[in-house]
Amino acid sequence: MRRPMVAGNWKMHGTRASVAELIKGLSNLALPSGIEVVVFPPSLYINQVIEGVEGKRIAVGAQDSAIESAQGALTGEIAPSQLVDAGCEFVLIGHSERRQLLGESDEVLNRKFAAAQATGLQPILCIGETLAEREAGKTLEVVGRQLRSITEAFGVAAFANAVIAYEPVWAIGTGLTATPQQAQDVHKAIREQLAAENSEIAQGVRLLYGGSVKAANAAELFGMPDIDGGLIGGASLNADEFGAICRAAGN
Ligand code: PGA
Repeated sequence: MRRPMVAGNWKMHGTRASVAELIKGLSNLALPSGIEVVVFPPSLYINQVIEGVEGKRIAVGAQDSAIESAQGALTGEIAPSQLVDAGCEFVLIGHSERRQLLGESDEVLNRKFAAAQATGLQPILCIGETLAEREAGKTLEVVGRQLRSITEAFGVAAFANAVIAYEPVWAIGTGLTATPQQAQDVHKAIREQLAAENSEIAQGVRLLYGGSVKAANAAELFGMPDIDGGLIGGASLNADEFGAICRAAGN
């Protein structure tokens, strides 16, 4: 049985004051027991959030981490070992905003993925196609290639300790959501690609959907057989909305 996960990606949002408000809202949520909840604040606020949600069933992760696992001379970066020291359990790897706007290549992402795992952080690998790629009928090819980048470098066993988030780029922050069937089709293909190498790992890995998930569409998406939860952007900045999405995952 895969334990559903709801992950909130706060992106580059927040101030100390608004983060305090959000922590207060999250702390008051009655979260369903069978699911895992993780939030990803901007690095600057990770300590504040870890202290603020202490004792609650909410884990904390980072939105990015360095290509080397240990601390060292790498200006501006945060080492996975430092994130573990702060109390983080997860890290997002390869969000489309970083792939597209910051030019992060599969090669760089592979290094980040491996560095994170080496310290015990669980990577959430984000993959997904652009609108042009979908319209050209290349969705499965693109997603398959992004996934293969990891399996070819580290073997399919890398996904025994990682999560995958399918996030169609055209659905992120646009209000356009993949239909439950569109998302399920890609999730099924991802699981089949992994199963061709190791069916146990394929059956165990959690596949999250991301892209304009809201309380209003979450239940339908999470009801699909290969969708094990969501990676939530905009809607994760509102504690009540996020709580409603968590309840949808718990049902
Ligand atoms: P969104 O973002 O929910 O605002 O579309 C999802 C994401 O980028 O992870």
